[in-house]
Amino acid sequence: MTEAAQKDNPLRGRFITFEGGEGSGKSTQIKILADRLNAAKLRAIVTREPGGSPGAEIIRHLVLSGMGKLLGADAETLLFAAARDDHVHAVIKPALEQGIWVLCDRFADSTRAYQGRLGDVLPGVLNAMERVTIGDLKPDLTVILDIPVEMGMQRAATRRGSGAPDRFEAEDVAFHQKLREAYREIATSDPERCVLIDANADADTVAAKVWTALRDRVLTKTKEVTRA
Ligand code: TYD
Repeated sequence: MTEAAQKDNPLRGRFITFEGGEGSGKSTQIKILADRLNAAKLRAIVTREPGGSPGAEIIRHLVLSGMGKLLGADAETLLFAAARDDHVHAVIKPALEQGIWVLCDRFADSTRAYQGRLGDVLPGVLNAMERVTIGDLKPDLTVILDIPVEMGMQRAATRRGSGAPDRFEAEDVAFHQKLREAYREIATSDPERCVLIDANADADTVAAKVWTALRDRVLTKTKEVTRA
């Protein structure tokens, strides 16, 4: 079945991605949403990038250790792409085909923001990699959590405790500011797929906004398709 045909398949799971800068609260929100979907008798799995499959988790270790940075922006991007390829084929597509919802902590927009906007990897290179790794697998909804940079960095530092910052946490405030702008641009450029949510609030308030977006943009359509 083609990807387009699968989108119209009422039994297909839905693919929801979460994006945002460091400390924006993605993992907390994904957990709340997964619990809510499961309580509504919708099967949902939580996964993440880079990683999410055994092969991709090995690559995660490489990139977050900073090893990818030594290779240069293009090669580091290829590592993210290789991880995504394995994750999509081993985990995401099989789950969606079985009717399971997939909630993914970061996906292709992270590459667009971190490697494209901040690593200066050319759009043509990113497009080519996306064609290979994800084809026309498009998220049904992308939640972009937006938070002031200083607050996000503070939250990430608190979460980390005495541990060392990883490859990207170690970047400076200007990097994270540019990252925030990149995500805002992604939200503006693809408003049908993306919702930008103010994450500078308590977890329940943010979760309510996430649920509203999901209800209005995905659940409503799911019911329409199921009824048709
Ligand atoms: P992680 O600890 O999962 O960070 P976070 O909790 O902020 O999601 O580390 C993943 C890091 O990898 C994060 O800093 C963003 C970066 N990243 C990229 O640069 N490109 C990508 O394509 C992906 C998926 C992640």
